[in-house]
Parts: sequence; structure tokens; C-alpha cells
Amino acid sequence: MAEMLRFFGRRKGKPIRSGRAELMDKWLPKLTVKVPVKGKIKLEKQFKIIPESIELEIGFGGGEHLAEVARLQPKTGFVGAEPFQNGVASLLAHLNGSHETGSGELKLTKGRVDNIRIWPGDIRELFDKFPDGIFKRIYLLYPDPWPKKRHAERRFINNYNIPHLYRLLADDGELMLATDVAPYVDWALEKMAESSLFQQTKKTIHIPPKNWVPTRYEKKGIAAGRTPTYLIFKKKIKKMKKVLDGSKKNRL
Ligand SMILES: C[S@@+](CC[C@H](N)C(=O)[O-])C[C@H]1O[C@@H](n2cnc3c(N)ncnc32)[C@H](O)[C@@H]1O
Repeated sequence: MAEMLRFFGRRKGKPIRSGRAELMDKWLPKLTVKVPVKGKIKLEKQFKIIPESIELEIGFGGGEHLAEVARLQPKTGFVGAEPFQNGVASLLAHLNGSHETGSGELKLTKGRVDNIRIWPGDIRELFDKFPDGIFKRIYLLYPDPWPKKRHAERRFINNYNIPHLYRLLADDGELMLATDVAPYVDWALEKMAESSLFQQTKKTIHIPPKNWVPTRYEKKGIAAGRTPTYLIFKKKIKKMKKVLDGSKKNRL
């Protein structure tokens, strides 16, 4: 496994209720990304379908967005990473469909989960294990804002993570960032510009892209009167080795 990095968020919350705990025991081992001891992860082989492309959601929270985009794009493979166990259990409940039916059944709805694999941990642990350019889209939605100045480098958009995101994204892929924290928008734009690795595809937008699926945080923010901002970045083509040397210097 890759180098140990400190994770500053929560891994555990309230005790997971029994139905969800059962889903975790039964389904999580089957849906967890398989990481070989040596060599890179062979993601394409881990889905029941042969995915046309693969997308990643970092920090899927309760999994509402991930479950829904996966349902809307059945030919795409999705990887979702979330260290918060209650969030992982919530994703499984969404995939299970018990939310919609209220039936409390513990059988995963057939067909809905075939295109999602889960990393129930910190995505940075897998950075070095994914092959170059594996993801056609990377979602980073409502990342923890870490508002205090002294915690600024804990923000996911930072000098360590940006070069890794760059390597993992396909040359024609896009990095999709959404937040409703205005200082985070400024921070992200500044860090991305400083890296010279990405360019924004459009000017900063406050109207969601077409067919947008809102996340739980997004809905809560809108209800509280906050305005979402959507930033879409494309790669500038650079020499990879130089890019990753830059990241090593900025390890937390
Ligand atoms: C503010 S929440 C937003 C959750 C969800 N995206 C939403 O919009 O409802 C940020 C999430 O990112 C997760 N997170 C933070 N750092 C992460 C990392 N290194 N790898 C994976 N997930 C991470 C946290 O555990 C948390 O659930």
C-alpha cells in the first residue's frame, strides 16, 4: 500500500443502524476496489460490465450523487472514495433501494450497483496505485472547507493533491469541483493557476451544468441560502515526471 498520510476528517459517527451494518458486512467486501500488493489497480476488470470510461468521486458523503449518476450512466464505471463509514453505509442503502421503497429489504437492487466500486478510505492512499489517465471525470463536490488559515493546506485542493489529480485524469477528461464556500473558490482558483497544470473550461458558473445531480451538501446549502459555484478544469499537457516531483515536495 502507498505511503501513510494523515487524514484530518471523521471516519466514524453515530453507531450504524443494524440494517445498514448488515449491508456493510455483506456488500462492502464485494464492492471494495481490489488493490494488488504489486503493480497498478486493474480497474476495468473489477466491474461486471466492460466500462466505456471510468469516473471518480472523491468524498461522496452520503452517496446520493454517486448512486444517481451511476444509475444515469450504466455503461460508465464509477469509483467512490469516502473514509466516513456512515457515509459508506448510506451509499449502500441508496444502492440497495431501501430508501425509495421503505421496505428495509437487504438485497442490493440488481443492476444498480454493477457500475460502482468503493474505496472506504482516504483516496490519497490509492493515488500511486491507479494507472495514468484512468479517470474521464473526477468529481470533488463540496470538499471540507477547512476555513481557518492555519488549516488551509488540509483543503483537498492543495499543492500535494493537484499533481496527482492531474496524473489520474485522462488527457481529455475533466475535474469537476463544486462548493458554496466563496473563499474556497478563490483558494482553488489560485492553487490551480499556481500549478499551471489545469485550465478552467468556462468562467466560474453558479448555474449547474446540464443534467446535474445535486449532493446532500448542495441541497442543504441552497436551503440555507448559499450559492453553489461550479468549476470545471481540463488538463494542460505537461511532462509527467516533473509534475510528480513537484507533488513530493508538498506532502503533508
Ligand atoms: C463536506 S463533505 C461533502 C460530502 C458530499 N460530497 C456532499 O456534497 O454531500 C466532504 C467529504 O469529503 C470526505 N473526504 C475528505 N477528505 C477525503 C479524502 N482524502 N478522500 C476521500 N474522501 C475525503 C469527507 O469524509 C466528507 O465526507
